[in-house]
Amino acid sequence: MRIGLLTGGGDCPGLNAAIRGVVKHALGEYGHSVIGFRNGWKGVAQGDVQPLGRSDIRNVLPVGGTLLGTARFHPHSEDGGMDAVLATLEAERIDALVCIGGDGTVHAASKVAEAGVAMIAIPKTIDNDVEGTDLSIGFHTAVNIATDAIDRLHTTAESHNRVMVVEVMGRHAGWIAVNAGIAGGAEVVLAPERPFDIDKVVRFLRHRHRAHASFSIVVVAEGAVPAEGSAMDFTQRLGRFGEIVAGSVGEAVAAEIAQRTGFDTRLTVLGHVQRGGTPTPTDRILGSRFGVAAVDAAASRRTNVMTALRGDEVRLVPFDEVAGKVKHVPDELLRVADALA
Ligand code: F6P
Repeated sequence: MRIGLLTGGGDCPGLNAAIRGVVKHALGEYGHSVIGFRNGWKGVAQGDVQPLGRSDIRNVLPVGGTLLGTARFHPHSEDGGMDAVLATLEAERIDALVCIGGDGTVHAASKVAEAGVAMIAIPKTIDNDVEGTDLSIGFHTAVNIATDAIDRLHTTAESHNRVMVVEVMGRHAGWIAVNAGIAGGAEVVLAPERPFDIDKVVRFLRHRHRAHASFSIVVVAEGAVPAEGSAMDFTQRLGRFGEIVAGSVGEAVAAEIAQRTGFDTRLTVLGHVQRGGTPTPTDRILGSRFGVAAVDAAASRRTNVMTALRGDEVRLVPFDEVAGKVKHVPDELLRVADALA
């Protein structure tokens, strides 16, 4: 059997563990070949092939990023993209294609599956918002990085009596913000699941600083939005030299807090730091488990499914249960973040 393999969308720590899992298990257990495609679906469309053997996966387990490269490219929304993908898969005689990616990649996988290709998806995203799985590869490492950053900001916030606003990733869901906020003991956590009222945030900080503290940590997910009626414009802001800088929600929240409270306030945008570096053991193990499960699925012809962690078990879930859906942070977790503020 010839198994195709790609990583699509934004990278994250733990991808190489999944690639290694696929290659080792396919070669070792079944004697299958693994044909990698460089730079996600783009590489499939362009026929950019990298056959993968044992030497390619040596020492990659602790390494961040993806040895195959990745790109944000969706064949079904590109002119001629789908035909090009199908032509390459036929030319390379691919029997099943394993794609490791987030919601966009899983959605693309479901479209390619509709065109008759045997597909298996492995969920990865630091945002942890892929529906159908308790965890996606990369999330655990990102929460570690964000928590470490919050811990570090705590000591400097306290020394300088400052409000530290920390913007973390999470476009559609606040998994990193809420988990790192709880783990790091943040005073305020703003997530996309619950539009926020800046007046309330300001009132809360004023009260806290009057009553018993001289510093605060405010964690903001990049996709957090102000509630309707709370007038916050973060689409365009003036920079230090009067230029228009791209606005982020963290920037807007920090500016509002500084202006309205007069507290010394600083902003840290963690950005792509959260996607880089060494994967945690949890992400290495998850990537390895998903890689093995994907090869077993291909070998037993259980295709058009995504590997998923449910409780302690890895299962296979059909694309139609997961593609195009966002997994949001549940109320219980949001309430814990609030209760401990
Ligand atoms: O991987 C998901 C994500 O981390 C989002 O939270 C973030 O908005 C986006 O990727 C950034 O993507 P890019 O690397 O294309 O700037």
